[in-house]
Amino acid sequence: MISTTPHPATGSIKLANKPTPTGPDELKKAILSLLASGRGDEALALCNSILKHEPDNLAAKQGAEWVLTQLVPLWHVPMMNEYERNKAFHDGMAALITPDKVVFEIGAGSGLLAMMAAKLGAKKVVTCEAVSLIAETARQIVERNGLHSQVTVLAKPSSEVRIGVDLPAKADILVHEVFSSELLGEHVLPSIEDAKARLLKPGGAVLPAAAGVMIALVGGDTLGKNLYVDESFGFDLRAFNAINPRKRPIYREDLAPTLMSDAVEAFQFDFQNDSSFPAAQKTIDITSTQAGLCYGVIQWIRVDMVEGVRFENHPGQPRAVSNWQHTIYSFMEPVQLVAGDVLAINATHDRTRPWFELAQAAALRQ
Ligand SMILES: C[S@@+](CC[C@H](N)C(=O)[O-])C[C@H]1O[C@@H](n2cnc3c(N)ncnc32)[C@H](O)[C@@H]1O
Repeated sequence: MISTTPHPATGSIKLANKPTPTGPDELKKAILSLLASGRGDEALALCNSILKHEPDNLAAKQGAEWVLTQLVPLWHVPMMNEYERNKAFHDGMAALITPDKVVFEIGAGSGLLAMMAAKLGAKKVVTCEAVSLIAETARQIVERNGLHSQVTVLAKPSSEVRIGVDLPAKADILVHEVFSSELLGEHVLPSIEDAKARLLKPGGAVLPAAAGVMIALVGGDTLGKNLYVDESFGFDLRAFNAINPRKRPIYREDLAPTLMSDAVEAFQFDFQNDSSFPAAQKTIDITSTQAGLCYGVIQWIRVDMVEGVRFENHPGQPRAVSNWQHTIYSFMEPVQLVAGDVLAINATHDRTRPWFELAQAAALRQ
């Protein structure tokens, strides 16, 4: 039931010196305002303080759940459980870490990679986490695993980490895993530019050393039925395609995509050797390897830890647990292909998002 009377939790949480919100609309406004000013932890504490006195307050329950979805994206748990990802990071770090090495990590999450680095014998591991609720949880996890003397978790974004304050000196190894499903969405490029310039010794190792945004032409009947409408139940519904959004994440293989070309690395980022990663635009010719309707391109990621240690969530190799989705960029209209047809794909990224579309001029060449 939703409360209409003031509740007793008026102690520590105030919004600009106003009393704690009472009704659901007021609570919603308070949560939005706290989240917008980067005070998600306080929004959660506010909901929890209401629930302490009114355990059945649905607005507070839903508010707390909504705040958690904003602060702790749902990919965290599958990511922690993704063996292939974890093994690739482990093997990459094993090739670099020796007892004299200080490791700095961007993005602690649960603290998993930082603890791996400590177990592999690093002299010291300093990791930072932008979401303070996650940072506090990582500290508890590190402590529970008995690694708190080796691993320090800073509750701040990497851009606010200071040498001499948070890190005694520049690190020997920079570890990062702030990759979204499209690689760039968690601002990995500016974070690495900044960390390499300020927090890593000249010539220090970066792990992963490189990563790429991968694409291939894609088709498949089930996928097609989820991307385009033609005639349905005797009615011509094709005009709806013009307003259907063209970019769609797919969860593992739920829509049974069929790859219609070899894989192409649309963008490659050499984190080890480059110090800046500008926006880019190119046209990529992709040759069809089979006949059929092509609906667009499917995108995934490839991560090179060190020489010889690679992780890739290739759509042709589905896994039971996977935190990175595949993304479909559909064409305005499906294109009928025969094997050997070449499609020109315009590929762009603005440092935080890639985008793929059929090049207008040279759409289909034999
Ligand atoms: C993809 S998770 C990886 C967590 C952990 N490193 C692992 O691999 O299991 C990335 C985490 O980094 C945090 N993060 C992203 N960019 C960050 C930055 N520039 N500084 C600090 N934390 C960051 C996110 O909040 C998220 O918890």
